[in-house]
Amino acid sequence: MSVLIAPSILAADFAALGDAIAAAERGGADLIHVDVMDGHFVPNLTIGPPVVKSLKRVVTVPLDVHLMIEEPDRYIEAFAEAGAAMISVHVEAVTHLHRTVQAIKALGVKAGVVLNPATPAFAIQELAADVDFVLVMSVNPGFGGQTFIPRSESKLREVRALLDSAGSSAPIEIDGGVDQHNIARVVAAGARMVVAGSAIFNTADPERATRELKAAALGAVTVAR
Ligand code: DX5
Ligand code: ZN
Repeated sequence: MSVLIAPSILAADFAALGDAIAAAERGGADLIHVDVMDGHFVPNLTIGPPVVKSLKRVVTVPLDVHLMIEEPDRYIEAFAEAGAAMISVHVEAVTHLHRTVQAIKALGVKAGVVLNPATPAFAIQELAADVDFVLVMSVNPGFGGQTFIPRSESKLREVRALLDSAGSSAPIEIDGGVDQHNIARVVAAGARMVVAGSAIFNTADPERATRELKAAALGAVTVAR
């Protein structure tokens, strides 16, 4: 499997999201990562289904919706109807995670589970065969522009080993503090979907930044193989 680049629009100009997405797509973005925050599970507030619905009209790649909210079950259907192709929920936010994962899949959407930095890899053990992907947070969720937590690299290897031993080929996504300097390392550690916000949209040329990140990621996967 190749490596997918998922630019996070959290770092983009919200008054010009269509332009930001178009630039990232020209640079080879494979997904567009949408960070949904509720001011409860994380301290920040961002966007909801109406914005996802508008983005859906302009994107050409799948929308990857990362729910950093309490009680995500209440909103899954709305995000699916708005056009999400992938929905991920935090293991720390959900009581009946098996049910939630099945509910996402029943809507025809790929289901992901997310691990905060303080949550051990084995938290997904019982769901390893059910999930479509696992998202490893390499910063504490809530804000863009934070520093990558180095321990995340070995966490990626642990999650990969756990999925492999369950017979799952579900890809692992990494989110937080990824840039041109560390992308090769996270890919070598097993990440196959890479979220990047600041490293793309806090540059003068998001198209070029996307292209360069993708080249670095693909270079690393070739070496790792
Ligand atoms: C953080 C979000 C991330 C964020 C990443 O809570 O989940 O997707 O946008 O931003 P950077 O790449 O700047 O760390
Ligand atoms: Zn995210």
